Amino acid sequence: MSAKPASQRSLPVVDGSVADAAVAAEAGRLADQAAGPRDIAAVRTLRVSVTDRCNLRCTYCMPAEGMKWIPKGDLLDFEEITRIARTAIDLGITNFKITGGEPLLRQQVEDLVAMLRALPGCGELSLTTNGILLAERAAGLRAAGIERVTVSLDTLRADRFRALTRTGHIERVWEGIAAAEAAGMTPLKINVVVLRDGNVDEVAAFADLTREHKRDVRFIEFMPLGQSKALTGADQFVPYAEIRGAIEAVHGPLVEAGRGVGHGPARHFRMAGARGRIGFIHAMSAPFCSTCNRLRLTPEGQLRSCLFDGGEVDLRPLVRGSLRADALRQAFVDCVRLKPDRHQMYGNRQMSQIGG
Ligand code: 5AD
Ligand code: SF4
Repeated sequence: MSAKPASQRSLPVVDGSVADAAVAAEAGRLADQAAGPRDIAAVRTLRVSVTDRCNLRCTYCMPAEGMKWIPKGDLLDFEEITRIARTAIDLGITNFKITGGEPLLRQQVEDLVAMLRALPGCGELSLTTNGILLAERAAGLRAAGIERVTVSLDTLRADRFRALTRTGHIERVWEGIAAAEAAGMTPLKINVVVLRDGNVDEVAAFADLTREHKRDVRFIEFMPLGQSKALTGADQFVPYAEIRGAIEAVHGPLVEAGRGVGHGPARHFRMAGARGRIGFIHAMSAPFCSTCNRLRLTPEGQLRSCLFDGGEVDLRPLVRGSLRADALRQAFVDCVRLKPDRHQMYGNRQMSQIGG
């Protein structure tokens, strides 16, 4: 990716939102080039949420108590997920990301990984986790076929981690990160949801993690999904321009390092001299819907067109019992047509039920 002229790199803040001309122009160009977001041919990745359960209770994601879980019998089993994945591959959707909730809580999820890996035409297999159980599972996941791991980590401070997750020990996450890197699942990604009252003062410290290690640290704008806004009490949203500004104030200007548009939602930069990259997922201040290349499968078998509120198609009746292969293919095509031009400013489901 060639460097942009300085004028295009500037990020004017208008009424608190970012008018990012460079991202918009690039997104528009790619959308014209690609068949468009409502064409199944544009879809590359299926995010597969294998459970809505979690061993943490992040304050912005879940209440302390009283979560209503999807009944176990309603979950797709591994055979059903694999059938769906086979159809996806037939349609050119070859990459799969296993997510949750916390996917390592799903019993023997390694078996599902191996089943997907064995599918002819299967592309990249990756996993998003909170890292708590990763240390003891990393080698097995790698052996089963996971190539890359994303770890969600919203603070570097042990006391804050405990408060934010209500239960977690941050040392476990660092052990998990070390184990994943030792097992060769690199470059590792760290996802940081930036929260106004939570961790906005830590973004420069997070950026520093990319200096010595070939890791991607990705800052995610807080999204009003499900109950998130109500759970946190106040609006926790911090715009991309502000996050980037706070990093640059400490580390100097960030240099563009290849844009995720067309491959994934993140826009990537590098600090001068750093080994790893810094990514921004600015779904709120600069949506990238026109180049969206993913679909999501919920634990109970809804194929979801959009993280926010774009419509779902129920696949479970098509894979439970006798497989209806043609209907399943058609369901994918129907689902991608439900993608919005631009996402809503609210989401009707919590992230833990969708698989970020
Ligand atoms: N806004 C932004 N990110 C969220 N995540 C969970 N809920 C939200 C939200 N409301 C993040 C998780 C994880 C990723 C899968 O999604 O922290 O990093
Ligand atoms: Fe679990 Fe992720 Fe929700 Fe935290 S944000 S409670 S780690 S699903």
